[in-house]
Amino acid sequence: MTTPGLQGGLDDPGFVVDSKAAEADAQVRGDVADRDAHLSAAEGALLRADEIVAGYVPGVNILNGCDLYVNDGELVGIIGPNGAGKSTLLKAVFGLVTIRSGSVVLRGNPITGLKAHTLVRQGVGFVPQTENVFPGLTIEENLEMGLFQAPKRFAERFEFVAGLFPALAQRRKQRAGSLSGGERQMVAMGRALMMEPSVLLLDEPSAGLSPALQDEVFLRVRQINKTGVSVVMVEQNARRCLQICDRGYVLDQGRNAYTASGADLAHDPKVIELYLGTLGSSR
Ligand SMILES: Nc1ncnc2c1ncn2[C@@H]1O[C@H](COP(=O)(O)OP(=O)(O)OP(=O)(O)O)[C@@H](O)[C@H]1O
Ligand SMILES: [Mg+2]
Repeated sequence: MTTPGLQGGLDDPGFVVDSKAAEADAQVRGDVADRDAHLSAAEGALLRADEIVAGYVPGVNILNGCDLYVNDGELVGIIGPNGAGKSTLLKAVFGLVTIRSGSVVLRGNPITGLKAHTLVRQGVGFVPQTENVFPGLTIEENLEMGLFQAPKRFAERFEFVAGLFPALAQRRKQRAGSLSGGERQMVAMGRALMMEPSVLLLDEPSAGLSPALQDEVFLRVRQINKTGVSVVMVEQNARRCLQICDRGYVLDQGRNAYTASGADLAHDPKVIELYLGTLGSSR
């Protein structure tokens, strides 16, 4: 007696496909192809993160081998469901979550595990998802905090930030705690820009804002990027994010699920079905 699965080919109706095994196999092949594509594309990137494994609790990994890169002058978006690990990835790159394996490289120099203040000095800026301003301090004092490692540059950098956010300059003596959500977001971005970063990591800058203010934030992010600052932006507002970014990543369960240009991702039927349907229509 013969076993159909062993004897027949794929076209043979007797061929029995172990669908789970085939799926796993395809997944592995896909992962290898994705890694190869990342490795060649990330060469010479301004900032790159390779095969990042990280988590908060011992023995529990939140990131399971994420790859990310951003070229000089690029605007890169990261989207994905709640809990996918988007914030964790930014925090890991910025030295706020311990990286268990993998590497982060800035302009060819390893920066894996360096502390946040060291990274700020090296040109990495970070705006966290929450609690990103000092509410008891004025706008001006918040901006000073962003420059505590180079206070002498205040006048020059304040002028730059005021050019991007004129409303902040006009109200520089106002406490950040009395500002609207949108204005606070501008203060937070302004603070991160004070050290003249070459790359800015933004975690959900439009979260919790009205649609009009969301538009303003996206406009500002583009403006910041146009001044030459590379940007990595995590966003729940997936469609808008993909509209403005050069390239995007879809993160799911701590892994890269899809990566392509913003426009290609926004039109990819799989991405639409899996990630844009609910994410995109929820805001
Ligand atoms: N400080 C923490 N301690 C322990 N677990 C955490 C901590 N922060 C996040 N996590 C867990 O890590 C996982 C990923 O969280 P993360 O905040 O990175 O997701 P996210 O993609 O940014 O989600 P969201 O869209 O809701 O912001 C979640 O399961 C979350 O519960
Ligand atoms: Mg998050």
